[in-house]
Amino acid sequence: MGEKRRNFIGGLFLVVVLLSGCVSGDVDVNIWPMPKSVKYGGETLQLSKDFGLETSGTNFSDHFGDIERWFFEILQYGIDESYDLYIPSNGDSVYAHLQAQTVYGALHGLQTFSQLCQFNFETKTIEVQQAPWSIADEPRFSYRGLLIDTSRHYLPLPTIKKVIYPMAYTKLVLLLIFVSGFGNITMGVGYPQLWPSPSCQQPLDVSNEFTFEVIDGILSDFSKVFNFKFVHLGGDEVNGSCWETTPHIKYWLRKRQMNASEAYEYFVLRAQKIALPHGYEIVNWEETLRNFGSKLSPKTVVHNWLDRVGGGLVQKAVAEGLRCIVSNQENWYLDHLDATWKQFYMNEPFTNITNPEHQKLVLGGEVCMWGETIDTSDIEQTIWPRAAAAAERMWTPLDQLARHPRKVRGRLSRFRCLLNQRGVAAAPLSWLGRDAPTGPGSCYNQWLYNYNTVQKK
Ligand SMILES: *[C@@H]1O[C@H](CO)[C@@H](O)[C@H](O)[C@H]1NC(C)=O
Ligand SMILES: *[C@@H]1O[C@H](CO)[C@@H](O)[C@H](O)[C@H]1NC(C)=O
Ligand SMILES: *[C@@H]1O[C@H](CO)[C@@H](O)[C@H](O)[C@H]1NC(C)=O
Ligand SMILES: *[C@@H]1O[C@H](CO)[C@@H](O)[C@H](O)[C@H]1NC(C)=O
Ligand SMILES: *[C@@H]1O[C@H](CO)[C@@H](O)[C@H](O)[C@H]1NC(C)=O
Repeated sequence: MGEKRRNFIGGLFLVVVLLSGCVSGDVDVNIWPMPKSVKYGGETLQLSKDFGLETSGTNFSDHFGDIERWFFEILQYGIDESYDLYIPSNGDSVYAHLQAQTVYGALHGLQTFSQLCQFNFETKTIEVQQAPWSIADEPRFSYRGLLIDTSRHYLPLPTIKKVIYPMAYTKLVLLLIFVSGFGNITMGVGYPQLWPSPSCQQPLDVSNEFTFEVIDGILSDFSKVFNFKFVHLGGDEVNGSCWETTPHIKYWLRKRQMNASEAYEYFVLRAQKIALPHGYEIVNWEETLRNFGSKLSPKTVVHNWLDRVGGGLVQKAVAEGLRCIVSNQENWYLDHLDATWKQFYMNEPFTNITNPEHQKLVLGGEVCMWGETIDTSDIEQTIWPRAAAAAERMWTPLDQLARHPRKVRGRLSRFRCLLNQRGVAAAPLSWLGRDAPTGPGSCYNQWLYNYNTVQKK
């Protein structure tokens, strides 16, 4: 052990004990999301009673909690998330080896390891089947996000935590919390002078210098407290009618010979100029690209939502050298309950983008849980398992992804049962989001019931 330890600098050691050499038949790999490279055998191992974790070549201690805590504290975009996991199958006592460059890679590796462990109800032990395992893994995209919206319904902290844990299980790394729209009232509650008028409260008063001072102040405070790389400056669905009808703003517009759409452009570009010196990467919704794309900062990340992937907007953004995040609403908006898990799985960010230089500008994607029809009572089953389907699209290399969703239905169905076992209220796989089970029986068969029921109807 001492010798080996030195060979695995930066590694983590998981201790498992070989049980028997029984060869199982042709079994599927039940890991979600599917790793980049997987090799396995036919032996079954049993976790030892004193199963534990030893670390070496790292300052992290061997307590899971230590590693987990760091995962949440220093999460950063673009960091090395790769890991190698090797579980040998020979010898009396075998050690699983997990090697990673960062704590993120280590945690992803532990998540994968946990999915290889199964409880055997007959022997009452935890088994690792299909050993030896050799897994080399890293994400396809660094930007793998889930947005939740706390502005339409209050979401208490325990609810937000319940969303975070399954994110780690699916290797999603960015939780984006929508607090308020670009021009929304929450900001205005503290500062009513940001409104055009008490009766017309959004978008924020473009004619008032104080508006931009407040934006600057907020971004400055945020940059001191949080180590975020991106700031989302919005810019979607802006309706300038309050600007055109409020006398002092109308006067300001006339003096500058601007109409509302020009004022919207002025507002977005000025907000960009404020954010850049604070060191942020700026995200703006796709409307900004459509309306005044050539004037956006070259550092802008365009956030797609209206246009279907392959429809042209994402292609246009990357062709112009701008980076892009994919969230097209018909496939990756979780509040669209008629968007099936299959659509979530099949939504390919590279659709119609073949140039490798352009592909590099696609940072990844974000599934969005807008909050009009969810609150604590139904958020989990609206998010899962559909967000998990998208998570594999964002994690697994393109050539490893299934061409047809039926190829992954069984594996995703098992993963959703694992989520249930871990206490996550993930819904059965069916046509609609947050469907309930339609009949008695094993969790593993629920998609069959739903499938048959819907087929018969
Ligand atoms: C452990 O911490 C020490 C002191 O902060 C540092 O010099 C060293 O590089 C760290 N080692 C690793 C492997 O991160
Ligand atoms: C803004 O917030 C108010 C509640 O303060 C809500 O009624 C309204 O729908 C929100 N508007 C947008 C665009 O989010
Ligand atoms: C903008 O807001 C005004 C006033 O609320 C409304 O009458 C108008 O229909 C809105 N325009 C659009 C394009 O939504
Ligand atoms: C605003 O002004 C610009 C420049 O004159 C013009 O191209 C655009 O059509 C105007 N938009 C509206 C909504 O009137
Ligand atoms: C991709 O490009 C082809 C050829 O221009 C076009 O027919 C298709 O609609 C585009 N979009 C998708 C989603 O395939």
